[in-house]
Amino acid sequence: MKKLIVANWKMNPDSAQAAKQLFADMGKLKASKSEIVICPPFPYLHLAKPKNYALGAQDIFWESKGAFTGEVAAPMLQSLGVQYVIIGHSERRKWVGETDEVVNRKVKAALAAGLKVILCVGEDAEVRDKGMTAAKRFVDKELREGLADLKNPSLIVAYEPIWAIGSGRADNPTDTVEMAEFIRSRVSGARVLYGGSVNSGNAKDFLQHPEIDGALVGGASLRAYEFKGIITTVE
Ligand code: 13P
Repeated sequence: MKKLIVANWKMNPDSAQAAKQLFADMGKLKASKSEIVICPPFPYLHLAKPKNYALGAQDIFWESKGAFTGEVAAPMLQSLGVQYVIIGHSERRKWVGETDEVVNRKVKAALAAGLKVILCVGEDAEVRDKGMTAAKRFVDKELREGLADLKNPSLIVAYEPIWAIGSGRADNPTDTVEMAEFIRSRVSGARVLYGGSVNSGNAKDFLQHPEIDGALVGGASLRAYEFKGIITTVE
């Protein structure tokens, strides 16, 4: 199966002009062994010209329309060609106070609408310092509550230990493999991605393992050269 390489631009770049340039750079990437998904901020979605990549959103609301100021619904995203959606990113949990219950509503709505869900899970440093058993217990709770009432959901799970995000300190791939297997034991058939300080230099350490189905890339996805290096690793 192809590796899934997802670019999460987060709240970047700072102008539509810069986003157009980045889309153009991404459009030049050649991939046959990887599927590329680009998740820009909402206002830039319509600027994408997805040919060699698919489009993803960074969030979604659980209702499909109505009086929900500031929110964005699945049909709106789909009308712009969006196929994937990231749900439950740790930055949303931290800065917007998203709970597992909110995540659960969003996952249900997105799956019902036919979007491909990338559910983010991962422990903070305090938990990981206690060891892998504690980390698995933390992730297990996020999976149980985030996927409550869903029977055999078909989705992508991104394991993103919070301490590895944007820190330059990626996980130990051996631990990532162990966590990926654990996640798959909880959500059968899930494609499991790793995210957290992935770059062109360390991508191979993760992607060479068959247990790791791909990567969710933040900072390095904003530098076309870096991102290309990650894709080249897979190819
Ligand atoms: P970085 O690649 O910048 O560490 O971000 C990872 C991430 O949060 C992707 O969703």
